[in-house]
Amino acid sequence: MKNRIPEPSVSLPLIGHLHLLSGKETVCKKLATMADKYGPLFSLKLGTRNPPSFGGGRHMGYNNSIFALAPYGEYWRNIRKMVTIELLSSHRLEKIKHIRFSEMDYYIKDLYGLSRSGAGNCAKVTISEALEQFTFNINLRMLVGKRFSGSTYAEVNSEPRRYEKAIKQAIYLFGIFVLADALPYLECMDIQGHTRDTIVKATTMILTLTGGESTSVTITWALSLLLNHPNVLKAAQEELDRQVGTERWVEESDIKNLKYLQAIVKETLRLYPPGPITGIREATQDCRIAGYDVSKGTRLIVNLWKLHRDPRNFEYMPFSSGRRSCPGITFRLQVVHLTAAKLIQGFEIRTIDGMAVDMEEGLGLALPKLNPLEVVLSPRLRSELYEGL
Ligand code: HEM
Repeated sequence: MKNRIPEPSVSLPLIGHLHLLSGKETVCKKLATMADKYGPLFSLKLGTRNPPSFGGGRHMGYNNSIFALAPYGEYWRNIRKMVTIELLSSHRLEKIKHIRFSEMDYYIKDLYGLSRSGAGNCAKVTISEALEQFTFNINLRMLVGKRFSGSTYAEVNSEPRRYEKAIKQAIYLFGIFVLADALPYLECMDIQGHTRDTIVKATTMILTLTGGESTSVTITWALSLLLNHPNVLKAAQEELDRQVGTERWVEESDIKNLKYLQAIVKETLRLYPPGPITGIREATQDCRIAGYDVSKGTRLIVNLWKLHRDPRNFEYMPFSSGRRSCPGITFRLQVVHLTAAKLIQGFEIRTIDGMAVDMEEGLGLALPKLNPLEVVLSPRLRSELYEGL
């Protein structure tokens, strides 16, 4: 039996192996390189042993009342149940479908307006930015019944701009804090005694953080991949023309027939999972994993990004698995599929000057595309279809 879990040799006083995770490359890639060297299960020392706590949760998360960061227990169970039933269940999503549909219509209409503003019925558009605003508005409307208009977004330093910036920074910092989690100055997690107000604010905040960016990032990566594989983009368009035609817009009920589009989304989530690493787990008892003895209290993370790319240990789980898996799966797949379908059906999409899209990844929790995606758009359906949205 293999009992000693392999670990990198260079462990520094106090911080252990933390230094191996710093730098410009994404953490999932660094961990993947280590997996190639040490095997599918390896151990890292990240600071000294501590009770479970999370820097991001303490500093930014209403003193750890964010349920997504809470340990398994009554608090997590109650809030997760409420979020699932009140917001993300199929029944609820059906009831509030007008929100995602009308936001999609605004979005397509805006893009149509932009595409016609250029010479020759086509224009350069930073499509990733427009996507962020669109997914942000869906979330805001679902959570607090509010949206921001395109003109408000356009103002420098406007409320949505500042909010958007704060969200981006929070997601980035959450990504960074995950690593600092084990450092000794962190306090014990105390999830008792939160007021109702704090719980509402913390839950709204985590849903805004997890919900918006993951979706816009996924659609941005999907478009980037398609632009770099024009034959696949063409085949997706042909599928839409065959299954839906060009006389009406694609609808949610068409998605089940768009197998090629579904495969594109699936492959995008394989290559660019917006949750590349799972949340931190802690062994509640001594156990054995992959033939190694793992003692109670050991913390474990799973590198989904690596599992998606490793032919020897392949697993596909962009939404993770088990009781902590993503509760937003149904909702997000609805939005990602339909938005991608509408974009492909409604526009000819090209890169600027025929250049390949750069696929550089940014740091932060959601594996964002580092540089914004700029494209040239031109409408491909009758003008009445856009004007009637
Ligand atoms: C393409 C879109 C999305 C992907 C790929 C994704 C993926 C993930 C992953 C990998 C996790 C971590 C699970 C773990 O630790 O094992 C997670 C957790 C979570 N996701 Fe998502 N997610 C997406 C969209 C959303 C949306 C739209 C929402 C809500 C509106 C959401 C809410 C959450 C929450 C609250 C958790 C924490 C769950 C818990 O701790 O119980 N996600 N997601």
